[in-house]
Amino acid sequence: MNESAVSSTPVVHPLTQAQASLGDSLRAVELVLDQTSQSTVQLIPEVSHHLLGAGGKRIRPTLLLLMAQAADADLDSAVDLAVATELFHNASLLHDDVVDRGHLRRGVAAAPRVYGNSASVLVGDFLMARAFGMVTQHGDLELLRQLSLVISAMAEGEVLQLIRSGRATLSLPGYEEIISGKTAGLFSWGCRAGASLGPRPAALAEAAAQFGQAFGMAFQIADDVLDYTASPEQSGKDLANDLRQGKTTLPLLLGCEQDPDLLSLVEEAAASPSNEEPCLAIVRRVLKTEAVALALAKAEQYTQRAVDCLDVFGKSPAAGHLVELAHYITDRVKLSS
Ligand code: IPE
Ligand code: IPE
Ligand code: MG
Ligand code: MG
Repeated sequence: MNESAVSSTPVVHPLTQAQASLGDSLRAVELVLDQTSQSTVQLIPEVSHHLLGAGGKRIRPTLLLLMAQAADADLDSAVDLAVATELFHNASLLHDDVVDRGHLRRGVAAAPRVYGNSASVLVGDFLMARAFGMVTQHGDLELLRQLSLVISAMAEGEVLQLIRSGRATLSLPGYEEIISGKTAGLFSWGCRAGASLGPRPAALAEAAAQFGQAFGMAFQIADDVLDYTASPEQSGKDLANDLRQGKTTLPLLLGCEQDPDLLSLVEEAAASPSNEEPCLAIVRRVLKTEAVALALAKAEQYTQRAVDCLDVFGKSPAAGHLVELAHYITDRVKLSS
């Protein structure tokens, strides 16, 4: 193939390809998402629509549906559970933008900035309750039990992060404990739920859950790197918001190991949180170290762990998309920097 043939070939994004392969099922997810966020209390659909209508990658329902397909399940039976994962995620974002004082989400003003903190918290509660309702309706008590564990672990992860904020000396296990609770658990549950719908749940659900857990760890590490490397136009979120909120994520943790003078800069920046310049100086300094490359290498270890869990599924187009998506987690960060 010559150069011009390469450059004229449109680059098709692995997420777009995976989602195209799911066709009508993802369209059904969108429809049910919209129906489920309805209420006669007008502010509820308004706030929900502000967030849901602004887009988002829909990666959790995509994974759940692909897992269902890889496990030979009927995709129609997976739509409600796919909706539930996206509802939980959106509820957590409504809460998160209060906790993290986020200004930008999915490229638009974060819901608390438009509707206030109280409305965001309360509508987040509503979406979470609707999501629990959908899983209850589905009727698999074991899945419901697992979900309640995951949602309490999500809150624990967030509270641990809160307690440990402002400490640039956080350990790697301390960081991993936080992201396992706040992010990986829901990915794990969604993948377990997808695989549990097929004819061989006993053989596949545990491997699917382990895939989702490792995928979620890599995903959150990549998100934490993007906080340092991606412009708001690229990520749809504020640059360096983790740092501004005193959150020690993997890039900062590794940056401080490599450049110990960073620790005092972090303390100085925390003393004047409204001043942008010290934060941006820290970002520049972190980017001068090997922190981003090392964090991505850590994410890639999790990606590999995730991919290894797929062996028991055998080869299929859906399993192929799952592998591509796992690699795409770190590829999209490399594309942004
Ligand atoms: C953002 O999740 C929060 C994390 C757990 C990293 P996503 O990156 O999936 O956000 P959307 O849904 O695409 O906006
Ligand atoms: C998102 O976490 C919320 C949960 C995972 C519960 P973050 O605060 O790390 O994500 P962003 O960067 O704001 O999307
Ligand atoms: Mg947060
Ligand atoms: Mg946040």
